[in-house]
Amino acid sequence: MSVASSYNLIVIGAGIGGYTAAIRASQLGARVLVVEKAEIGGTCLNRGCIPTKAFKATADMLDNLQRLKEFGLSGDIKIHTDIKQIVRRKNTVVSELVKGVEFLFKSHGVTVKHGSATFLSKNKIRLTSGDGRQDILESNRFIIATGSAPGDLPGIKTDGRFVLTSDDILNIDTLPKRLIIIGAGVIGTEFAFIFRSMSVDITLLELMPRALPSEDEDVSKLITRSFKKAGIKLKTEAIVTHVEVKDRQVDVFLENGEVVSGDMVLVSIGRKINTADLGLEGIGIKLSKKKEIVVDEFLSTGVDELYACGDVIGGKMLAHAAYRESITAVENLLERKKQTVNYNAVPSAIYSTPEAASVGLTEQSAVEKGLKIKIGRFPYRALGKAKAFSETDGEVKIIADVDTDRILGMHIVGSNATDIIAQGVMAIQNELTAHALAGTIAAHPTYSEAVMEAAEDALSIAIHQPRK
Ligand code: NAI
Repeated sequence: MSVASSYNLIVIGAGIGGYTAAIRASQLGARVLVVEKAEIGGTCLNRGCIPTKAFKATADMLDNLQRLKEFGLSGDIKIHTDIKQIVRRKNTVVSELVKGVEFLFKSHGVTVKHGSATFLSKNKIRLTSGDGRQDILESNRFIIATGSAPGDLPGIKTDGRFVLTSDDILNIDTLPKRLIIIGAGVIGTEFAFIFRSMSVDITLLELMPRALPSEDEDVSKLITRSFKKAGIKLKTEAIVTHVEVKDRQVDVFLENGEVVSGDMVLVSIGRKINTADLGLEGIGIKLSKKKEIVVDEFLSTGVDELYACGDVIGGKMLAHAAYRESITAVENLLERKKQTVNYNAVPSAIYSTPEAASVGLTEQSAVEKGLKIKIGRFPYRALGKAKAFSETDGEVKIIADVDTDRILGMHIVGSNATDIIAQGVMAIQNELTAHALAGTIAAHPTYSEAVMEAAEDALSIAIHQPRK
């Protein structure tokens, strides 16, 4: 066991929260060490946002091939879906991005050590590497960004072969004929569309009365319509009691007596927080019931110079939220700033078909808050670009305050929703009004026009809408 000299800052975890914090700290002049027990890049790069998007790219290509005739193309094209090649391509995309982060660490002078960290005191950790070697590392300042992992369903054991987590499904070597997905949240919805495009029979089992239950109800409705159109079966209020694997078949038993059979089951019912084995309680860091690190609005744990960011603090468990939190935390820590994260302006981006994205309040939460709201909508089918590209499913919905005209929320289902939501983020972050959005000039023909027109609709002055 060796004791290494002090660093100005040790960051635990090299996911998007950790690596961003380390680079910003180095830009601020700190001598930074990052410790990581698995891969650089964490969930987002290795098992989340990026690999799923590599799968989605294949799925979209397959969807487009279905429409060749409509677009005036014909010919004999025989398609074979080679899941091994899809996984290989995904691995290449991932490894290039991981190398990119490693390059950034080098370029910014950030030191990386591999191993599992446990706090021995407020300024000392023990790092245990895979071969059992232990190092004691010291610093006065720490940022904890250890993230999250796929959550378990009590009584159901994943085996990586028939009953899978979202990590496992990214490395399968045969495509199932029938896939059952437990949980129609963000992960379940994305994989449902991806594998449906690869001709897999999909059944989604959702506990709540609707898919994507935390999204605006209109988003759920539109995506549920898209499930139907794609031939994805959705069972809501489905209470799974247990799962049985027999003769290469998986049976999922529901409380109402129904049995759903398939070749594989994906469990995507939320994520659990990575705080076990860090020795946090021993140094006075408070954990919530869900084992999230409790932080104040400045992302301090309240224990000396220990801050935390990303999935490990719960809340909006999204890569881009982790990114903003990490910069906020590190600047507060090293520069004694008192910055906070505007969580209301954190967008969500769901890679369904078509995409869905939102920011700010849902209609339901605005009403619950007692706000007087007005709603503007613009359907994709009224957009020139959407018509030209045959991408006419979806709409932009804007929620604005009746008294102040301020934009409170934006919810988009439709092609490129995950990109054009940036306008909603800009509006909410900068407290813009519906008049301000309606007065912008959207390039024509673009999907962005739907945002401008939805803002006009909230003011009852949309040009491309019938008189109300
Ligand atoms: P989630 O919270 O989005 O969805 C879990 C779903 O499972 C919910 O609809 C819930 O009602 C349902 N559920 C819970 N227990 C169940 C049960 N026993 N039986 C059936 N259904 C059950 O969690 P998910 O999809 O696992 O994603 C985890 C996290 O990762 C989320 O925070 C999500 O926002 C994030 N993520 C974000 C993505 C994006 O922004 N594009 C992509 C993937 C994940």
